[in-house]
Amino acid sequence: MTPAALRKIGRLETAVFPIGLGCASLSGSYGPADEAEAIRLIHAAMDIGVTFFDTSDKYGNGHNEELLSRAFAGKRDQVVIASKFGNVSGKGDGRIADGRPEFVIASCEASLKRLRTDHIDLYYQHRLDPQVPIEETVGAMAQLVAQGKVRAIGLCEVNPSTLRRAHATHPISAVQSEYSIMYREQAEDVRVTTRELGVTFVPYAPLGRGLLTGSVNQSSLREGDERLRHPRFQPENLDRNLDLVRNLEAVAKAHDSSAGQIALAWLLAQGDDIIPIPGTKTLSRMVENTNAAQITLSQADLDFLAEAFPHGVAAGTRYRSEHMKNMYL
Ligand SMILES: NC(=O)c1ccc[n+]([C@@H]2O[C@H](COP(=O)([O-])OP(=O)(O)OC[C@H]3O[C@@H](n4cnc5c(N)ncnc54)[C@H](OP(=O)(O)O)[C@@H]3O)[C@@H](O)[C@H]2O)c1
Repeated sequence: MTPAALRKIGRLETAVFPIGLGCASLSGSYGPADEAEAIRLIHAAMDIGVTFFDTSDKYGNGHNEELLSRAFAGKRDQVVIASKFGNVSGKGDGRIADGRPEFVIASCEASLKRLRTDHIDLYYQHRLDPQVPIEETVGAMAQLVAQGKVRAIGLCEVNPSTLRRAHATHPISAVQSEYSIMYREQAEDVRVTTRELGVTFVPYAPLGRGLLTGSVNQSSLREGDERLRHPRFQPENLDRNLDLVRNLEAVAKAHDSSAGQIALAWLLAQGDDIIPIPGTKTLSRMVENTNAAQITLSQADLDFLAEAFPHGVAAGTRYRSEHMKNMYL
């Protein structure tokens, strides 16, 4: 197997394996997870060469960062950790995001403690706070960089104009937003600006929250799985979306691979500024996803997929309407 070429994350010095590991589901976002198995999976990913691990103070209400601290004990210098602050939805006060400077500083201190480290490699604002100018939030993040507590900063779900304002305050190294072949309009729009500014794009939910693997059906979603609330999995949408996956399966056949691997290979083919972070609780699936870095799609494959997945093809929006209004701000 040829080693995959490493990719840069904005201004961070350390380049990383082209596919990272999204760790949210290891703390239960898609139903319960087993901690010992999660740590085995993380170590197996490191053995394969994966170095970029994505967490947030939101995942498992801090559990995910603590899990990573246990997995990385004695190995901190071998990994690039991305964490996030400011997604305060679900607390019952109607507030979705908190970008106040004092909150940024306090959140970072708490994350450092949970991660048991003295620095976070890449620190993102998880959701934009419409009540706080982005310059103020990024100003506080810049302070953390100056203090050495954070190496580089990122933003999630921002539009081009917010990104420009933020970047003028302090260089932004990465934008993390949902991006997959089935939901690509907003990502492709903001990528015009990320490429211009030298900002890396980190696609989250690169497997469409599992949909693009073809392995999710109505009966496979169990209680506690947040996907039960996502429009794409609703009965009126799911069959139409699974029909689209047949196109990935057709390409997969020619590459002796899987639909999910083709979805990841398609993202990697969009440019070396892309580092997807698929998530899984299953070790063999992590290996499968990581091996997608070995697949090179032909121009004919890319043309076929572009035609099969035009903008707007997905049935159902990325989030429910009450959450869509907090995205791409
Ligand atoms: N910034 C943000 O707002 C934001 C939002 C969402 C997610 N994220 C980040 O992005 C990461 C990835 O997103 P995600 O986990 O929501 O979605 P995803 O990576 O698109 O899909 C994950 C789902 O796909 C399944 N899956 C993974 N590999 C598979 C394979 N090879 N075959 C069959 N099924 C497979 C997983 O099930 P199993 O676990 O059962 O394998 C899981 O249910 C998260 O962990 C998180 O770090 C960020």
